[in-house]
Amino acid sequence: MDRPGLDSPWQLAHLTVPNRVLLAPLAGIGNWCVRLQAKRYGAGMAVSEMVSSFAVHYGNEKTCVEMLRVHPEERAIGQDGLAGIVSVQLFGQDPDVMRSAAARVRATTDADVIDLNMGCPVPKVAKTGAGAAMLKDPDTAVAVARAAGEGSGLPVTVKLRSGLVPGDTTSGYDLAHRLVEEAGVAAIAFHPRSAKVQHKGTPDYDLAARLVESLPAPVILTGGLHTAEDVVRAYEHTGVAAVMLARGALGNPWLFSEVLGQRAGEPTADEVLAELDWMMDRTVEHLGAPRAGRFLRKFYPWYVDRLGGDNSLRSALQQTDDIAAARAVLAASRSVALA
Ligand SMILES: Cc1cc2nc3c(=O)[nH]c(=O)nc-3n(C[C@H](O)[C@H](O)[C@H](O)COP(=O)(O)O)c2cc1C
Repeated sequence: MDRPGLDSPWQLAHLTVPNRVLLAPLAGIGNWCVRLQAKRYGAGMAVSEMVSSFAVHYGNEKTCVEMLRVHPEERAIGQDGLAGIVSVQLFGQDPDVMRSAAARVRATTDADVIDLNMGCPVPKVAKTGAGAAMLKDPDTAVAVARAAGEGSGLPVTVKLRSGLVPGDTTSGYDLAHRLVEEAGVAAIAFHPRSAKVQHKGTPDYDLAARLVESLPAPVILTGGLHTAEDVVRAYEHTGVAAVMLARGALGNPWLFSEVLGQRAGEPTADEVLAELDWMMDRTVEHLGAPRAGRFLRKFYPWYVDRLGGDNSLRSALQQTDDIAAARAVLAASRSVALA
């Protein structure tokens, strides 16, 4: 069957998403800088990192000011004439708190979509009954999704695992149906790995294909999409409406343009260094220089890998305490390379 191109638009409730290659939510990473970077390389939508509905409801300052910050450029009108879509991911198991948090997200960020995290396997989240633990309590999951829609008046999407343990191929599938049919959820982002395996192992794309066939709403696929070939193969195999890049896009925004057919081949060293420089500037704008220096330590290895993976450069960068020191390390490595 001929599939629409990954670069073609699709409908998410009343919103036209300009293409089918999206940035997945990434906790501790997916702030506005990373989302904007993905959009500069063509991502059709970029979901925020997960944000606690309780923290939003109680007005936690760091959450409301920093984590919910949306940059005006994220809404820029693309060449297709479509405005950038802002999607904020919330987690939490209490419908009343979710209703209030979703309303506040809309009021403070003017988001277009509320995405709900029902897939996080991390004990800190799942122990409270949120994230992947929602698979065990589908009635509450449906109530939470309904409340998010009522509070915000926005389309709600839900990101889900296939099950809690390997071999469970029904709980995610069944919950996806209930969320769409009973709570009016606009799309399901499906990660066909069990919560137990976290991010390891091969995702079950056959199960994703079965969900696509039966669900009366678009399915977005996430999991194992690390190269352009992975993406095209999984997109063709499953019939999903869109794909979400996660680990494959860390320090690798070029993957978006490659998948969208806008470029071929690896970035040059100059391109990688210019991109890291852009990320440093933007992170300083977001967090201020002292915190930016520490925050970016986890980013450096991704860019060093793109540069060919020099261990001494990787560890020198990770030992830096501030941006100026990291820039000095990069400049020194550059002059060695040019000598
Ligand atoms: C560091 C990291 C942070 C993540 N944070 C979130 C999150 O905040 N919300 C969420 O729904 N999924 C989160 N995920 C899951 C990803 O969005 C994605 O579904 C998963 O990594 C599978 O895709 P991949 O195999 O292509 O990496 C995270 C994954 C990683 C590796």
